[in-house]
Amino acid sequence: MRPAKDFFRPLAVGAPAPVTEIPARPSRAIHFFDPSNAKMAAKVPQMVGTVDVLLGNLEDAVKADNKEAARAGLVEIAKETDFGPTQLWTRINALDSPWVLGDLTTLVTEIGDKLDVVMVPKVQGAEDIHYVDRLLAQLEAKAGLDRPILVHAILETARGVANVEEICGASPRMQGLSLGPADLAADRRMKTTRVGGGHPGYLVRADGNPDQPEARREIFQQDLWHYTISRMVDACAMHGIYPYYGPFGDIADVVACEDQFRNAFLLGCVGTWTLHPKQIEIANRVFAPSAAEIEHARRVVAAMGDGTGAVMLDGKMEDDASLKQCLVMVELAEQLAAIDPQLKAQYDAITIED
Ligand code: GLV
Ligand code: MG
Repeated sequence: MRPAKDFFRPLAVGAPAPVTEIPARPSRAIHFFDPSNAKMAAKVPQMVGTVDVLLGNLEDAVKADNKEAARAGLVEIAKETDFGPTQLWTRINALDSPWVLGDLTTLVTEIGDKLDVVMVPKVQGAEDIHYVDRLLAQLEAKAGLDRPILVHAILETARGVANVEEICGASPRMQGLSLGPADLAADRRMKTTRVGGGHPGYLVRADGNPDQPEARREIFQQDLWHYTISRMVDACAMHGIYPYYGPFGDIADVVACEDQFRNAFLLGCVGTWTLHPKQIEIANRVFAPSAAEIEHARRVVAAMGDGTGAVMLDGKMEDDASLKQCLVMVELAEQLAAIDPQLKAQYDAITIED
């Protein structure tokens, strides 16, 4: 274990100093694109400003024969595009693959100044983060970068879930975690073949009525991912970093997609992956508090004065703790309003009576 006094020292001579706090940059949608797909790549410049994060994917979903082309494509796109307020992330290949060393060396030295976050797949434990941490520091020093690239881990192995707290605390670069439901399901030997979302077989059935044994008994579908998302949220909150939902593979089922995203938002996630442009609109809407929620939160803040004691508002008790809940919403709204003029207009239109 690194002693506390060394935790924020650079891991290579000449590397930028690690950050002591992860900035709360809005990242409702992390939109995946394949940089080796010319059609998709051509759309990237037009998407700047319409989505919080654009992510050049080099790992799964990119064919082995296209790995080098995807890496080269990402370098070209990053060099040619002005990303303005939109963050640029990448998902590198897995640490046990033959491509990852080339991914990191090329990307950091060629476009390190444009890359905000490197997403690392199939992270098993702190040792994986330590490897990437040192390598990034060496490459940042070589490239003369003046700010550190942050690291995001995908939670998609049983061992990763068991080690989730130590993964989050493994480096000051740790920006957040995403749920990887497809790989995680396979690794755990879960019996679902869906990419994220619920499953009709995972349910609770209401008791029957003995007087009507033939009557239909209601069923309530349960969330397969509730446990993992909850663990992820706690681990991230404990370490001051950010949790995200991952992929929702049924692109046509926008209703279930919205439900799954909203569950994640309510549990504490700040955003999600989007695999198709129609999921971006859903994510942007779901991962922002509604005007009604902000109106209520601001009324509580106003009513609570110095923030101590208890008040009654609309027949409900509000106190120091519920004020903190409301401040979570108000702070998020402020961060989002700073980058989204439409949301800003909605929040600005709220008037609170004294
Ligand atoms: C994402 O990478 C997943 O495996 O679900
Ligand atoms: Mg995966």
